[in-house]
Amino acid sequence: MEEYAVKLEGIKKTYKARGKQKSEPAVSDVSLKVRSGEIFGLLGPNGAGKTTTIKIMLGLVYPDEGEGTILGSSFGDVKVHERIGFLPEQPYFYPFLTAEKALDLYGKFFGIEPERRRKRIKEVLLLVGLESNSYLTLSKYSKGMLQRFGIAQALVNEPDFLILDEPSSGLDPIGQIEVRDLLLKLKEEGKAIFLSSHQLSEVENICDAVSIVAHGKTVMAGKLDELLQIRGIAKITFVGEDPILKEALAPLAVSLTAANDATIAEVPNEKLYAAIEEARKVDAKLYSVEPKRRSLEDLFLEAVRSREA
Ligand SMILES: Nc1ncnc2c1ncn2[C@@H]1O[C@H](COP(=O)(O)OP(=O)(O)O)[C@@H](O)[C@H]1O
Ligand SMILES: [Mg+2]
Repeated sequence: MEEYAVKLEGIKKTYKARGKQKSEPAVSDVSLKVRSGEIFGLLGPNGAGKTTTIKIMLGLVYPDEGEGTILGSSFGDVKVHERIGFLPEQPYFYPFLTAEKALDLYGKFFGIEPERRRKRIKEVLLLVGLESNSYLTLSKYSKGMLQRFGIAQALVNEPDFLILDEPSSGLDPIGQIEVRDLLLKLKEEGKAIFLSSHQLSEVENICDAVSIVAHGKTVMAGKLDELLQIRGIAKITFVGEDPILKEALAPLAVSLTAANDATIAEVPNEKLYAAIEEARKVDAKLYSVEPKRRSLEDLFLEAVRSREA
């Protein structure tokens, strides 16, 4: 497979205004790169331009400016669409069909031969955990089951690359966990996955890399692990709330707290060993040492506000 599943550079799109209203760009400057083999999250508040970006990637909407490729081809390339599976933001599935019948229809759209189709339908139903409900009509499915059906639908053509627009929105926590586990399983099978989300927890639990968009612009991007790490600061946790330890570490730490039966010191990396040495002298019980991390929530607010400022 290609090194990059998607590349976008300087994408801009303004929808035509109705009447006299002046229209703001839906996407004013989005650039991103999705590596094959990773789960990539496009994160942003409602109206940030996520769906428009996805439509551009799929060749459903033409950008006014900018360029890019999907699986090494241009966005409108019909041939490349055979290698892509897509779950739209608000899919509509014909309610009176069983999952099996509906998947059979999707298989026909892709021109899959009847025998191969039957086999593939069994495979995808098993993959999304709907094999024992395949005879029910979709009108009887719960929201979570419908969303998993939607992912099955996107998998019928054995795509290399899955694009999912807000796959967990509207699902309860169990439904969200089911979708998360399914996506992780698909990643293990070697699929590249692109998802959009306005939910921090979804992205934090699933994605390897993210790009944050706000008001149509990419404001932050990178590997999630690296974005969340605060460079140069270590967080040392000790067992117990220990005033003597606090005093010993005070000259070295940038932050010191003792609460909930733990003492936590944040120290610059170059003072890490000195801090541990001081703690040893007062017989403190070391519990853990880790890089200081911020929450995705902090990162998200920082990214979105930097654009508003
Ligand atoms: N077809 C359209 N015509 C006019 N405006 C649109 C259309 N689609 C989206 N927009 C506007 O573009 C902006 C970005 O929308 P969208 O890409 O759907 O954002 P998101 O998916 O991040 O919620 C919004 O202000 C939305 O109202
Ligand atoms: Mg959207």
